[in-house]
Amino acid sequence: MSTQVGNSANMAAQGAGSAGGNKPNIVEVRSLIKHFHREDKTVVPAIDTVDLDVHPGEFVVLLGPSGCGKTTLLRCIAGLEKPDTGSIQIQGKKVFDSDMGLVVPPERRNISMIFQSYALWPHMSAFDNIAYPLQSRNVPKASIAERVHGALKLVGIPELVQQYPAQMSGGQQQRIALARAIVSNDDLVLFDEPLSNVDAKVREQLRIELLEMQRKLGFSALYVTHDQTEAMALAHRVAIIRQGKIVQIGSPRDVYERPSSRYVARFVGTTNELNGSVVSPTGGDGTVRVSTEFGEIVAQSSSTSFKIGDKVAVVIRPERCTLSIAEPTAPIKWSGTIEAALFLGSHTEHVVRIGERTFLEWSVGSELREVGTRVWLAVAPEHVRAVTILDPTEK
Ligand SMILES: Nc1ncnc2c1ncn2[C@@H]1O[C@H](COP(=O)(O)OP(=O)(O)O)[C@@H](O)[C@H]1O
Ligand SMILES: [Mg+2]
Repeated sequence: MSTQVGNSANMAAQGAGSAGGNKPNIVEVRSLIKHFHREDKTVVPAIDTVDLDVHPGEFVVLLGPSGCGKTTLLRCIAGLEKPDTGSIQIQGKKVFDSDMGLVVPPERRNISMIFQSYALWPHMSAFDNIAYPLQSRNVPKASIAERVHGALKLVGIPELVQQYPAQMSGGQQQRIALARAIVSNDDLVLFDEPLSNVDAKVREQLRIELLEMQRKLGFSALYVTHDQTEAMALAHRVAIIRQGKIVQIGSPRDVYERPSSRYVARFVGTTNELNGSVVSPTGGDGTVRVSTEFGEIVAQSSSTSFKIGDKVAVVIRPERCTLSIAEPTAPIKWSGTIEAALFLGSHTEHVVRIGERTFLEWSVGSELREVGTRVWLAVAPEHVRAVTILDPTEK
């Protein structure tokens, strides 16, 4: 195990988040489409023209609400589901191509997968559960024992080697499932919401351990979750999915600070929002002038091609807002009244009524203001963004 692990770690150092030099991408999905035909004759476009790359050593998270197609995409890559059209390449080798009529079966794709339900064999010990993928690949016995013990040590529970799943906590079972996923030393591990069944404390711990393990072993990961904190914590890049489409992909900071749409802005965090329409198109400096219910605002533009009249949302993160009693010199500011003040431990939250709207303001280490206080709410221009509205009916 050690030499293989070493190689992978080098790959991680070179490859994570970049084009990966002359190494092929671990995953290349092109124009993938998958419809499900329900019994009532309706058709569900579970995957709608997806392109996706995973670079060597990269941790990519697919983030989206339930039913948006995350599991289906993983299953297509693993070979458990047959897409309608498009192609999938793994480590430079085609495993699916609708034009060529090519479908490589799952066992020949060299991928490990870990599920939300631990999916351990109840009648097998931890050892046998972890050994299973090696046995089915005809690895010699002595080597199996060594690798199973190595994997158990990595997930931090070597003492449970002879225990059965029913004798373990949920967190321990998921560690066994994790050990089983990494024991084959595959370059790609697919994760389908593996932490959503374990309780919050254990989940946070496992998240950190998983992160360390992936960075150390260097395998590439494609990880599905509907939990934005988890996505942010783990990912080199996050792909945000809506109705079978990737609507934005980028680093966690990128998607949080520069969302391209209201959908993404809302999904990856909390936002204050104003409705508006564009009054001057995106300029050379990347800003756009927007007419809103609070007057005209110059906002950072998420698109180079906003035109006059386009309906947009202006989004502002609560932690980018500042409150003051005296009128600030900032160019973007509104006066309002404190409607609620909450101490939340790590930070405070003020709800500020401004006209017909309420805005949230978060800050660390500041005093709570009294309800009813007249205040100014200001925000630096670089934190005011005009974004596309993908679904105007969404409130
Ligand atoms: N075997 C199936 N038959 C019919 N519809 C399915 C099947 N599997 C998934 N779907 C539908 O496809 C869409 C995407 O599902 P899924 O990939 O499981 O989403 P997610 O993992 O993001 O929750 C959903 O509308 C779901 O109901
Ligand atoms: Mg799912």
